[in-house]
Amino acid sequence: MASGREKPVTAIYPGSFDPVTNGHLDLIARGAMIFDRLIVAVARNVEKEPLFAVKERIEILEAVTFDWKNVEVDSFDGLLVEFARMRGANVILRGIRAVSDYEYELQMAMMNRKIEPQIETVFMLPGEAYSYLSSRLVKELAKFGSLPNGLVPPLVEERLKAKFR
Ligand code: PNS
Repeated sequence: MASGREKPVTAIYPGSFDPVTNGHLDLIARGAMIFDRLIVAVARNVEKEPLFAVKERIEILEAVTFDWKNVEVDSFDGLLVEFARMRGANVILRGIRAVSDYEYELQMAMMNRKIEPQIETVFMLPGEAYSYLSSRLVKELAKFGSLPNGLVPPLVEERLKAKFR
């Protein structure tokens, strides 16, 4: 067990992942190193106009996380803490790229704690090369055919090209 404790620590890494970026993968790599099990969870009911259907986001995530044996991909509807409880997770993992992320993340973490005090939110910082990276900007650049290399996995690059062909 990575934690060396009797009870394995399962963490949920929730998000829209529309699409997954190398910043998300960097965080998954860090999470997979310190938690016994990491469940990457695609939120189904977030009020946004997604580019990729949930099914496609899951398929991409499964392909790009295949090498991590303690990482699995799932999706959820409704409240994150209920899903975490249902999956036996004691940690919610979130990434903070910059101070601008902090306020929203603080609100979410505190509200999730209010609903479910047993589940702890853990924040990790992605590598600095990804501190400015977001799925929203990736989509915008891909739409104009100007996505720089190295920001998303090759599979995502392919899928983006197909979407905006
Ligand atoms: O990648 P995102 O869009 O920043 O992820 C946000 C997400 C999906 C983690 C958040 O919107 C969420 O947890 N949604 C599920 C509904 C929920 O539990 N809302 C209460 C949060 S306090």
